[in-house]
Amino acid sequence: MKICCIGAGYVGGPTMAMIAKQCPEISVHVVDLNQSRIDAWNSDELPVYEPGLYEVVREARGRNLTFSTNVDQAIAEADMIFIAVNTPTKHFGMGAGRAANLEFIEKCARQIAKVSEGHKIVVEKSTLPVRTAEAVKRILSSSSNGATFDVLSNPEFLAEGTAIEDLLDPDRVLIGGESQAAVKALADVYGQWVAREKILTTNLWSSELSKLTANAFLAQRVSSINAISALCEETEADIDEVSRAIGTDSRIGPKFLKASVGFGGSCFQKDILNLVYLCEHFGLREVADYWEQVVIMNDYQKRRFAERICRTMFNTVSDKKIAIWGFAFKKDTNDTRESAAIYVCRDLLRERARLVIYDPKVSKETIVSELLTALSDLSGTISETDRELVQSNVTVVNDAYDAANNAHAIAVLTEWDEFRELDYERIYDTMQKPAFVYDGRNILDRQKLTKIGFEIFAIGKSN
Ligand code: NAI
Repeated sequence: MKICCIGAGYVGGPTMAMIAKQCPEISVHVVDLNQSRIDAWNSDELPVYEPGLYEVVREARGRNLTFSTNVDQAIAEADMIFIAVNTPTKHFGMGAGRAANLEFIEKCARQIAKVSEGHKIVVEKSTLPVRTAEAVKRILSSSSNGATFDVLSNPEFLAEGTAIEDLLDPDRVLIGGESQAAVKALADVYGQWVAREKILTTNLWSSELSKLTANAFLAQRVSSINAISALCEETEADIDEVSRAIGTDSRIGPKFLKASVGFGGSCFQKDILNLVYLCEHFGLREVADYWEQVVIMNDYQKRRFAERICRTMFNTVSDKKIAIWGFAFKKDTNDTRESAAIYVCRDLLRERARLVIYDPKVSKETIVSELLTALSDLSGTISETDRELVQSNVTVVNDAYDAANNAHAIAVLTEWDEFRELDYERIYDTMQKPAFVYDGRNILDRQKLTKIGFEIFAIGKSN
C-alpha cells in the first residue's frame, strides 16, 4: 500500500512519521511545496520540534518514509492521499477574521483530480468546516482521467508538545465516511497499533464537526478558568486552590484547568472563529455569540496581563528592561503561532518597554517576524516607527540569566521546565530593584521568590 500526504507541517510530518514507523510495509511519501521545509525534514534539524520526533523519523526515513516536493508523482502513485495543509483564518474578503481560508484545500483537491488515475481514497486530515467534504467530492468528481474517489474525514487530535505520545497512544481515532470499504482501509492502517475499540467511525459531517467542537470545548475550559482567575486576583481566592477543588468533581475532571496568560497555538482561536462563522451562516446568532465569548475572554486575559505589568511597575514601563522568558505558545514546541507572548510583547512595546527575549527553541528571526506582524495594520503594513521600535527595543538572547541581567522585571510567558530550576538568588542579585516577576504560567515557587526579595505577581493570585 502507498500513502501520500500533502502538507509537511506540524500535523503531516509527525503523523506520517508515526504511520511509517508502525507500518513498515506501507510506503509513506510526504510532500510539500515549501522546499526548505522538505530539506529540513530530510536533515538532522527537523522543522518541527517535538520530544521523541527525531527518533521516529530517523527510524523510518529512507526505509518507508520519504519527504519531497514531487507532489504530482506522490499523488499519482498513492492508494490513499491525506490532505494535511494549513487552513488559516481568512484575512480578506467575505468572512475575513472568522471563516477558514480553504484555498489550499481546494488546490489540493484540484491537483488530485488532475493527476489521479484508477481509484483512490482521499483523507481530510486538516481541520475543516463541517460539509467541506461535499466541495472536495465535487471537485474530485471533475477528474478528466476517469479516476474515482472515496472521501474520508480523519481529523487529528494530537497536541503539540506531546504529539508523539498522542499519536502512539491516542484517546481515539475518528474516521468519518460513506464507503465502508474505505473506512475499513483507513481503520486497518491505525489498527496496526491502536486498539480497535479506540477507532470510532461516524458519518462524514459528524467527524468534521467533532474536531471543531473538541477544540471549542478545550479552549472554553481555559477561558472559563481564566475568567475566574481575574476574580481571584480581586478577592484573595487562589486560582490553583479553586482548580483543585472543582477538578476533583468527576463531572468536571482535573485536566485543562490551569489558569494562564491565555491560550495560543494555531488551532483554538482559528477553529472557534470558524465555528462562529458557520453558526452565523446558518442564522444561529445566539450560538455564535456564545462561542465567540471564549475568544473575547482570551484576548482580555492577554491584555490584562500586560496591563497588570504596567500598573504595578508604577504605571510606566517606558525604557524599562523586561526579560521575556518563553515565546512559544506552550512548552516542548517551537511553534509560536498565536502565542500569548506575541500579544503581551506587542502591548509592552507600545508602552515603549525594552524587551530581552529568551526561548530555548524559538529563533530570533521567528520572534522578530511575529512581533512585526502583530504591530502591523490589517492590510499587513507596518509603519516605519514600529519597525524601528522592534529594531531598537527588542533583543533576543540565548539564556534566561542573560535576559534577566539588569532587568526591572521578568515575565514568564511559556511554561518551559527549565524556568523552575534556575538559581533565583543569582538572578535577584543581577536585577534592578524592586525586582518584579510576572508569572504568566503559575510555575514558580512564590514563597521562595518572595523570601529572596522578588515582588511576584501570578495569575489568579492577589498581592
Ligand atoms: P502547517 O502550516 O504547519 O503545515 C501545512 C503545510 O502544508 C505547509 O508546510 C504548507 O507549505 C503546505 N501546503 C499548503 N498548500 C499546499 C499544497 N497545495 N501542496 C503542498 N503543500 C501545501 O499546518 P499544521 O499545523 O500542520 O496544520 C495543518 C492542518 O491540521 C490544519 O488544518 C490544522 O488546523 C490541523 N491541525 C493542526 C494541529 C496542530 O497542532 N498544529 C492539530 C490538529 C489539527
